[in-house]
Amino acid sequence: MTRVSLARVTMSTILILNGPNLNLLGQREPGTYGSSTLSDLETLCADTARSLNLTVECHQSNHEGVLIDLIQAAGARHRLGSLRGIVLNAGAFSHTSIALHDAIKGISPTPVVEVHLTNVHAREPFRHHSWISPVATGIIIGLGFDGYRLAIQTLAEK
Ligand code: DQA
Repeated sequence: MTRVSLARVTMSTILILNGPNLNLLGQREPGTYGSSTLSDLETLCADTARSLNLTVECHQSNHEGVLIDLIQAAGARHRLGSLRGIVLNAGAFSHTSIALHDAIKGISPTPVVEVHLTNVHAREPFRHHSWISPVATGIIIGLGFDGYRLAIQTLAEK
């Protein structure tokens, strides 16, 4: 087996990283975010990955530093060939966190797909800017849970 195909075989994990308040999906502003829960979302991610012969690791944190630690660790795993990329919904930190921007830049070229459940550009002006977008591989917004499915499919092809 060549080195390249070995890397393809082992790069089978995708990290699903959800930021602050996304643990409240299902109860939080249901008119905006719907009635499905974080657990429903993680199940969809796992099912999507399984159908592509991949696996997901799902984490949610309300803490910026924890998210940064997880991103740095993911970068190290990508370098070692054991992690394909990250699907990141950084929640409100997307609009405020230069530290997350720097963390993503710091793990380049690890692919990071930024996802938002809602169309942030159709919401309050303070949600229109993202510090993640300039350093993300791609951005999927406003498609609800489907955005995560599409992000996993995209990473599967990378
Ligand atoms: C969000 C959009 C953010 O503006 C908000 O702070 C969130 C969720 C989304 O998925 O639509 O927490 O990232």
